[in-house]
Amino acid sequence: MPGVCIIGLQWGDEAKGKLVDLLTPRHDFVVRYQGGANAGHTVVVGEEVYKLSLLPSGVLTEGVTSVISGGVVINPAKAIEELAELKGRGVEGLEKNLKISDRAHVILPWHFAEDRALDKNTTDGENIGTTQRGIGPCYRDKVARSHAIRIGDLYRDDLLDRIKHIVTAKMPVLRAMADGAEVEELDAQAIYEQYREFAEQLKPHVCDTNDMLLTGAEAGKRILFEGAQGALLDVDHGTYPFVTSSNSSGVGITSGSGLPAKYINHTIGVVKAYSTRVGGGPFPTEQDNEHGQQLRDQGNEYGTVTRRPRRCGWLDAVAVRYTARLGGVDSIAIMLLDVLSGVDEISICNSYELDGETTRAFPSHVDDLRRVKPIYETMPGWSEDITGCRSIKDLPENAKAYLKRVSELVGLPVSIVSVGPGRDQTMLAQDLDQLLP
Ligand code: GDP
Ligand code: IMO
Ligand code: MG
Repeated sequence: MPGVCIIGLQWGDEAKGKLVDLLTPRHDFVVRYQGGANAGHTVVVGEEVYKLSLLPSGVLTEGVTSVISGGVVINPAKAIEELAELKGRGVEGLEKNLKISDRAHVILPWHFAEDRALDKNTTDGENIGTTQRGIGPCYRDKVARSHAIRIGDLYRDDLLDRIKHIVTAKMPVLRAMADGAEVEELDAQAIYEQYREFAEQLKPHVCDTNDMLLTGAEAGKRILFEGAQGALLDVDHGTYPFVTSSNSSGVGITSGSGLPAKYINHTIGVVKAYSTRVGGGPFPTEQDNEHGQQLRDQGNEYGTVTRRPRRCGWLDAVAVRYTARLGGVDSIAIMLLDVLSGVDEISICNSYELDGETTRAFPSHVDDLRRVKPIYETMPGWSEDITGCRSIKDLPENAKAYLKRVSELVGLPVSIVSVGPGRDQTMLAQDLDQLLP
């Protein structure tokens, strides 16, 4: 069984990092295959809290190869910074264990300026609220092909010429975007020198990860795929245009990793027990009221990357059912269940009303999603602290009933339940335990 996938089924921050860390020791490879340093994956090991943006959450486990594959967009400075931080905190084996694809695209200084300018410039008046990490502009240049640089290009003789060519093309664009404000002149030579230095530092990690992963998969090595963001932020299938610029739903795994679908054996969809969203865009079950505030307080819902307060609301089973089907999800992990302790009455959205009709279809157009009225069913909550529970049978009856109902509405079995950030605060259903490597 070579391939297990962890993907978020909401708008990100479903606690994917915790699950990846937990399942890493059962695998030989952990692969980040899309997104970039817009992600913020938290892993708690005992008293230590690690926040990983670019490096796979597998790096904390020695002896496992962590891979940043070709579908990721890489800010080299960030990769170097995260590596240095981990080394400084005593994480061993990074030189050997981290591999970076020579096909991955590089985030360059102009991408940050473009990200800031573009986000203020949306047509429908609401900003996407990007993480300002240059992600969208880098993916745009990748697809446009003419002004992009890949990791492998950083080592080639024509790098300076390429940078000069791009800087010449970019300056007028940056000036136009600045709308009269002063724009700092890009210095091609200085950028060249800086990125050559980054390249030198990253050299021990860079290789053809496609070949490495294919060879591994063919030999039956066990591979864990670490999704970033969540499926509702998928550029093709999410709440467009309020999305990220990569395929963050299940459809991105093969294109981003370079491994064919036949190596995927089990996909776990990660679901927060309620909903959160950072940035703009429709959010039907948002509770901009005391319920939302209670969830934010109890769940400490502030962005890992940007520290922005996350928007909070009830679980949207229409949206999760949609993303679970889209991702070919086999089972769901319900995370942060403990955050609901003390909520008197818990609501779940089981369908939408749109134009007088009741539907379980997730609208494809953002304007329709803005117009839906969530239809809720309510369930009694529980007051017990469940952070010490280690088996589903130990949970309060109302918590068990909640899990059962979510499972019914999404149409999939619950294979994992999490009741706290720690590794041990996790319950694995027996079937999954046996199925995983
Ligand atoms: P990711 O981006 O999907 O990896 O998720 P984040 O790390 O951005 O956000 C999840 C947050 O919830 C982190 O602070 C985790 O430490 C924390 N967390 C993970 N699982 C649980 C849980 O079951 N209960 C609680 N209370 N916190 C959790
Ligand atoms: P993890 O992996 C939550 C959101 C941003 C913004 C939109 C586009 O930690 O779950 P971008 O910078 O990607 O162009 O921003 O996507 N976003 C995330 N929200 N978790 C994430 O990652 C996110 N990565 C991007 O807030 O609304
Ligand atoms: Mg996060």
